[in-house]
Amino acid sequence: MDSEVFYERKGSLGIIRINNPPVNALSQSVRRGILKGLDQALADVEVSSIGICCEGKTFIAGADIKEFGKPPEAPFLPEVTDAIEASRKPVVAMIHGTALGGGLEIALASHYRIASRDSKFGMPEVNLGLIPGAGGTQRLPRLIGVPLATNMIARSEKIDAVKALEVGLVDEVVDNDSLFAKGYDFAREVATKEHAHPLVSNRPIPDRESAHRWLANEEGDLERRSKGRKSPLRSLQAIRSSLDLPFDEGCAEERKIFLEMKDSKEHQGLTHAFLAEREAFRVSGLDYGKAKTIRSVAVIGAGTMGRGIAISFLDAGIPVRLFEIKSSALENGVEVICSHYDRMVSKGRLDVTEASKRKQQLSSTLEYTDLSDVDLVIEAAIENMEIKCSIFKELDRVCRLGTMLATNTSTLDLDQIAGATSRPEDVVGLHFFSPANIMRLLEVVSGKETSDVTKATAMTLAKRLRKVGVLVGNCYGFVGNRILYSRLPEALCLVAQGATPAQVDRVLTDFGFPMGQFAMSDLAGLDIGYNAREGRRKTGEHVPRTWLDELVEKGRLGQKSGEGVYRYEEGSRTPIEDNQVDQIIDDYRSAQGITPRVVTDSEILERCLYVMVNEAFKILDEGIAGREIDIDVVWNSGYGFPSYRGGLMFWAREMGLDRIFERVQAYCELDGGEQWKPAQGLEREVFGS
Ligand code: 3HC
Repeated sequence: MDSEVFYERKGSLGIIRINNPPVNALSQSVRRGILKGLDQALADVEVSSIGICCEGKTFIAGADIKEFGKPPEAPFLPEVTDAIEASRKPVVAMIHGTALGGGLEIALASHYRIASRDSKFGMPEVNLGLIPGAGGTQRLPRLIGVPLATNMIARSEKIDAVKALEVGLVDEVVDNDSLFAKGYDFAREVATKEHAHPLVSNRPIPDRESAHRWLANEEGDLERRSKGRKSPLRSLQAIRSSLDLPFDEGCAEERKIFLEMKDSKEHQGLTHAFLAEREAFRVSGLDYGKAKTIRSVAVIGAGTMGRGIAISFLDAGIPVRLFEIKSSALENGVEVICSHYDRMVSKGRLDVTEASKRKQQLSSTLEYTDLSDVDLVIEAAIENMEIKCSIFKELDRVCRLGTMLATNTSTLDLDQIAGATSRPEDVVGLHFFSPANIMRLLEVVSGKETSDVTKATAMTLAKRLRKVGVLVGNCYGFVGNRILYSRLPEALCLVAQGATPAQVDRVLTDFGFPMGQFAMSDLAGLDIGYNAREGRRKTGEHVPRTWLDELVEKGRLGQKSGEGVYRYEEGSRTPIEDNQVDQIIDDYRSAQGITPRVVTDSEILERCLYVMVNEAFKILDEGIAGREIDIDVVWNSGYGFPSYRGGLMFWAREMGLDRIFERVQAYCELDGGEQWKPAQGLEREVFGS
């Protein structure tokens, strides 16, 4: 028997037990092992029923993602699910943890399903640019109806055990620690039943007429939402086959779509994005065994960032002490955090007991001395070096030795901040993204003297907060913002030369970004960038004035003032083009002696994205990012780069680095700006070292 799948007999029960850590994925040997186990159970006259279960933390979490891209090897999953369903002895799936994708398809092909109370069920294939490929789109609608099946398949929503029982996805739910004992009893009992064992494939689709109407509605909505992605709509097509075709023909149609999607760029991109996120944690030379445990945290600053950071820790079960210098700001911060939890309760997203537990874990103080006993302090004060340095001086004075000291700066020099303390080895950047309790990215910024223990502790902490931690080096804007800041001057220049802000934004959203450059600037507030530029101008740096500066000086600060690059109706966040802005841009062009020309969409795309790729290579050259995947993860999880394109660097390689280099060089000759000077790494990639 294959080592990932064991077969044993307990009395009249044949048990197929899968042990393929970490998530019991359906590798080729697991698929083969299940079939072998099934054969053994069927051949054994002593066996009257069969159980399929898993060791470790979960039931089967789906096809083996690490096999994607390799030549497929039989037996394929539909062969396994067909064999399970065809078994003349009843098969019972015993589920704990997460039954996902192919794992849920194995369960659906089984005659019965018994689940532990903590289990969850889902069909997340569309997250990998696929659709279920082993009968999932045909069996799930038959068992639980088209509306819920569509939510699970096309929108990849998971349901818990209680819901699964309510809708008939499972036959019984039992306490977590009694799954196997109860599962064995259940399996023996069903073997004594005289009627034929239920096959999901034989069931009629409930409420066929309204199911058709539901799918028609869903189609419009999914088309709008899945911009650029095909798999959600293709999964809908497969579900529709379950209404229109007999089961076998529906399965054939599903398989056809599955194989087509398996060949798609969308699948390659999303699989790369999935694996890159997990790879980001594996940093060469970093010993996670040395990471310290963070049991308590203090957050300095009760503004938007500080509150969001505090909620992230409370959600992860880590007590938070919130610090402010003014009592009114502190009270307001605590109130906003508490009302966040009250809202979660009223929306049914959190139960009252859990919400009050989290609120109780929050304490507040106006005194630095109250921060002496925490394991970590995160400073989330305003973006000002002087203020940050004075805070770190105080922290150095009051915090016990070994406390990790973090700053949430998004741009400032970490080494200078660390230099305000006598323990720069304990200082790290934890760059959260707003809203901090929702955004998944956490840039972990390492300074010149940040110790390996501090880095390992910060990366481990990111995992505990269920964030994607990416270790980056110290420079202005680190990885994410530095790349973003390389794009803004191009976007401004394209508009100065003849494009409209709306055209630039449309090209970027058509590419797959959730927002264009200018809508995003309006959201963040135009004054923020303006103040930073003015600050740099005051130090004597040459920062050219642009039409964006003109807008700010006319009081257009973005969404917060109702007018920025766009205008906004009262209470609305929808950007509307504004003639007044067109006029300001025209005046700017005249003053600069620019005759506007036609700017094509393809030029906009090239200039906005190739400049980012060039900057990314410079970041790699300088060692600010260790690997291309780190850049992909930062931009996918923090800046809305469409992950179905894999990531900025994955996409660049798909486009062809030689082509990008050629265009970078052309823009360098045309524009002469530093941003277009080809990165050495890019040049090396094209010409070899
Ligand atoms: N295949 C191979 N490895 C997998 C995997 C899979 N399906 N799912 C997760 N893993 C690996 C991860 O790469 C990671 O490996 P690492 O430790 O070496 O980095 C490890 O399992 C743990 O994963 P997470 O860090 O994500 O752990 P979590 O506990 O946070 O989450 C999970 C576990 C919910 C299972 C999550 O990993 C997940 O959602 N996995 C994807 C599941 C999925 O998409 N299944 C469908 C596959 S497609 C399919 O089944 C097609 C079929 O219809 C024919």
